[in-house]
Amino acid sequence: MSYDLVIVANRLPVDRVVLPDGSKGWRTSPGGLVTAIEPVMRANHGVWIGWPGGTDQDLQPFEHDGLELFPMTMSADEIEGFYEGFSNGTLWPLYHDLIAKPEFHREWWDSYVAVNQRFAETAASLAAEGATVWVHDYQLQLVPQMLRDLRPDLRIGFYLHIPFPPGELFQQLPWRRQVLEGLLGADLVGFQMPGGAQNFVRLVRQRVGHKTHRDLVYLPDGRTVRARAFPISIDAGGFEELARSEPVAQRSAEIREALGNPRKIFLGIDRLDYTKGIYARLRAFSELIKDGHFDVEDAVFVQVAVPSREQVEQYRILRDEIDRLVGRINGDLGRIGRPAISYLHSSYPREEMAALYRTADVMVVTPYRDGMNLVAKEYVACRFNDDGALVLSEFAGAADELRQAWLVNPYDINGMKSALLEAYQAEDKETRRRMKAMRRTVTQHDVAAWADSFMTELSDVGTHGKAVRPAHRS
Ligand code: G6P
Repeated sequence: MSYDLVIVANRLPVDRVVLPDGSKGWRTSPGGLVTAIEPVMRANHGVWIGWPGGTDQDLQPFEHDGLELFPMTMSADEIEGFYEGFSNGTLWPLYHDLIAKPEFHREWWDSYVAVNQRFAETAASLAAEGATVWVHDYQLQLVPQMLRDLRPDLRIGFYLHIPFPPGELFQQLPWRRQVLEGLLGADLVGFQMPGGAQNFVRLVRQRVGHKTHRDLVYLPDGRTVRARAFPISIDAGGFEELARSEPVAQRSAEIREALGNPRKIFLGIDRLDYTKGIYARLRAFSELIKDGHFDVEDAVFVQVAVPSREQVEQYRILRDEIDRLVGRINGDLGRIGRPAISYLHSSYPREEMAALYRTADVMVVTPYRDGMNLVAKEYVACRFNDDGALVLSEFAGAADELRQAWLVNPYDINGMKSALLEAYQAEDKETRRRMKAMRRTVTQHDVAAWADSFMTELSDVGTHGKAVRPAHRS
């Protein structure tokens, strides 16, 4: 079987679930990427290559909801070296401002190279003559060049979903040149922010020695590579529709009731990751209670922390820190049936998220560094009445577009306290003015527009392969 469009990502867009009859099945993951890419895949006879999680070794290619999926197996050693090790113990902290200390281990690198090679070989074996291959994210940065070596006829795009760091930090990576050269195998390298694209081009000029001009890199073999920002977004229409639906309205009322009908509900939803600034935001909120600005009868903070990368040490440490902090805050400030923080360490389906967004009066998104942060955009999409306040870190990519949020520096606890208090006290007129403007941005620039603009640019820049047809949307 060969395909005109091949999506290569570390994860497949489905999760393994146990069905009511006890058998195992698949459910589409809640993330927005699949929503964006699905129409392009359908219009172009596409396949998605990725890891379904776990160490199942006997998975065959399969179809789910009309999408062709090609599962990549991963051994326990590869999970340790490639996934937990190099991807999440080296690259993740290195690309997020060294919020945690990256570890550099040669065995992890070897595993990263081997797994990238396997992904590249699989993509090469599935791509039709002249096909387009779109590779995603930091786990697979070597795939573009490996794939080009195997299949020079292909048109190759790469998109980095996380920040691309400044040279001063990237420089620490012992394999910096190999990573840059890996990315240069693509015709188009997409980033969240213009700053990331500029960091990349500058590093290519300084470290690899290629000529560059603005967003173009000129390679000695005559090829050019374009590096540009394509800020990602969400399925705004889908979220709004869900938020407006009757079951979500009911669930939202239930949640408010269960929380004891406080005047204001604050909400944080994050993967439990040290980049997200969960600790600092909870402290800021608790200090507002301690300082007497409001009481646990007036306000509650609902913090959803989605379990993530639990085998990686820094994530375990974080979990313990947050557990302790929440325990201390609730022990000090809570009353019977009235915790200051309602803490949930769990992941929820999209419907429950929409209900939480619909319920929250103040959404708090305070990462120390974040490529984009889709939670901020999802909240905005769900506020169809133009109400609700968003407190947003300046260091999230989303802050570039959502200028009307209460912007904060998450390192500045007093600044965060003031912003939380302002958002708590803001007049309806003020929150509406801000939310209206943000909703305009999010509905206009949704994830479908993002995928289309990347695909269109890729068909313009690629000198190899056939162009991919844009998806026809209703
Ligand atoms: C970030 C990354 C994705 C990753 C996701 C979940 O959003 O950009 O590539 O899939 O986190 O992390 P996980 O390690 O569970 O795949």
